[in-house]
Amino acid sequence: MARIICITNQKGGVGKTTLAVNLTIGLALEGLDVLLIDGDEQGTATAFTELRANYDKDPPGKARYTVVSLHGAAIRSQVRMLASKYDHIVIDVGGRDSGSLRAALTVSNVLLVPCAPRSFDLWGVDQTADLVLEARETNEKLQALAILNGADAQGKDNSEAKAALADVAGLTLVPCHIGRRKAWPNAAAIGLSVLEYWDGNREGCIKAREELACLFKFLYGLPVLQIAEQPHTCIHCHQPAREHDSNGMCMTPDGKTFYTELTKGRL
Ligand SMILES: Nc1ncnc2c1ncn2[C@@H]1O[C@H](COP(=O)(O)OP(=O)(O)O)[C@@H](O)[C@H]1O
Ligand SMILES: [Mg+2]
Repeated sequence: MARIICITNQKGGVGKTTLAVNLTIGLALEGLDVLLIDGDEQGTATAFTELRANYDKDPPGKARYTVVSLHGAAIRSQVRMLASKYDHIVIDVGGRDSGSLRAALTVSNVLLVPCAPRSFDLWGVDQTADLVLEARETNEKLQALAILNGADAQGKDNSEAKAALADVAGLTLVPCHIGRRKAWPNAAAIGLSVLEYWDGNREGCIKAREELACLFKFLYGLPVLQIAEQPHTCIHCHQPAREHDSNGMCMTPDGKTFYTELTKGRL
């Protein structure tokens, strides 16, 4: 029976789709069968998956998963029907459609609410928590979690947001957060998860992986996230790294350089 996670926040731009696709790919990289349900009318998870499928060459270890677009009560009926066919189901529920969210909450094991570290972005979390209490009347074991995403490198906003989230009745704060790092949008822009992506900012890429791994371990109890073994392959030109200069730079016809070493990563 699939373990079902639903990711939501009424706010847009807090990282719902980003976390949904990265968790999906992390599970798929572990060899698990994953169904990603795009429950947002905007269809970002579907567009991301199409981008990934159309990526000119498969990056090494590219994980496969199934994506379907579902809304409203169809989320409940389809999840009930499909739960026995997958190891995991990840549902990306858009902010505004409370019908979809209500349906998703009745069939999910876990709700994950990503929040940005800005006080005004916490608005709406209370309403989500109310829906959780309502859903628990029929889905008693629903676990509801909040995670700080896009956390600042420094400053008080993170701790203030964490304190505010910890105070929301019905939600548990995940004990690790995800920082604001370019690796997330950069990887998504080419249809990859941060687990499959490297660029010149190695430290940022590694941090993004480590932070995802921490969430992954908390959610799934899996010790590490692994990417397929094919060390030192350029994700831009797909040639072995020895084809590149000593810094791993790959020169493209349009004159751009990419730092493209892809190493096997057990975090
Ligand atoms: N931790 C992060 N660091 C930097 N950018 C992020 C992070 N999480 C998400 N983003 C970026 O923020 C934007 C909105 O994220 P998205 O997942 O589409 O939000 P939502 O689905 O909640 O509307 C995207 O460009 C995404 O790449
Ligand atoms: Mg989205």
